Amino acid sequence: MTKTDRIRKMQRGLLTWFRKNGRDLPWRKTTDPYAIVVSEVMLQQTQVDRVIPKYHAFLAKFPDWRHLAKASQASVVKMWHGLGYNRRAMMLHRLGGEMTRDVERSPEMPKELDELVKLPGIGAYTAQAVRAFAFRCDDAAPVDTNIERILKRVFGSHDKNRKTIDALALDVLPTDVWSWNHAMMDLGATVCTARSPKCEVCPLRDVCLSYPCAGDDVKKRPQKKFADSDRMFRGRIVARLRGKAYDTDALQKGIELADHERFGRLVDSLMTEGLITLKNGKLCLR
Ligand code: ADE
Repeated sequence: MTKTDRIRKMQRGLLTWFRKNGRDLPWRKTTDPYAIVVSEVMLQQTQVDRVIPKYHAFLAKFPDWRHLAKASQASVVKMWHGLGYNRRAMMLHRLGGEMTRDVERSPEMPKELDELVKLPGIGAYTAQAVRAFAFRCDDAAPVDTNIERILKRVFGSHDKNRKTIDALALDVLPTDVWSWNHAMMDLGATVCTARSPKCEVCPLRDVCLSYPCAGDDVKKRPQKKFADSDRMFRGRIVARLRGKAYDTDALQKGIELADHERFGRLVDSLMTEGLITLKNGKLCLR
């Protein structure tokens, strides 16, 4: 089969599958770039099921760029509760500020990749996701780990570097970029999974160079332990400051970290990053 044939069959098979099996997710019912950015930032390190209620709550409280920008950073970080990685909330708030800098004009996200990635908190992936899902740009091919895995398997490109995979993602892109990219994400999440792919129900098995696929030998990524990690204590500090301000001693007691030096380092890093601050001698969310 030529590469062109493989691509054509892949497109037909996956888009047909998506019409029947695509997930019904709230951010697929909007073309508002703001809502799509919110969803993509939330989805970066958090699972779909946990994002859905947070997505609704966040948009109810901050329905657009102006509401987001007008809110305090602390209130945005508070709304982030349960999603983890509070820096993402801070960056989103910062992006809101940037988007509404010109008070005369209504906030409008650029469509060009090079303009998008200049915005705070917007990397190449998020930029391409916005271009695909909000603007339906015909060259928008966001590549997340799921999409990368599918492309490597279908085209037998396991040894290819990221640049080649990005180019491949563009090669396979059909006209309907919105459906295509969602379809790839859904296939990766439900069928072409890393460890136990369900090849017997895969719409791409006839074109897939890895079929039948044993799954990736995902050496359980030496996942950093959360217990006793800096991330855990940083999360605790921010969670505690959601309620009220504390002086440092009380805060340290509250998060149950005995090591003074380590506590000081964590507080310093949160202050440097701009998540927390000192007001009237007490630590609080900024
Ligand atoms: N993960 C990242 N973006 C997503 C999206 N738009 N739909 C489902 N999962 C996603």
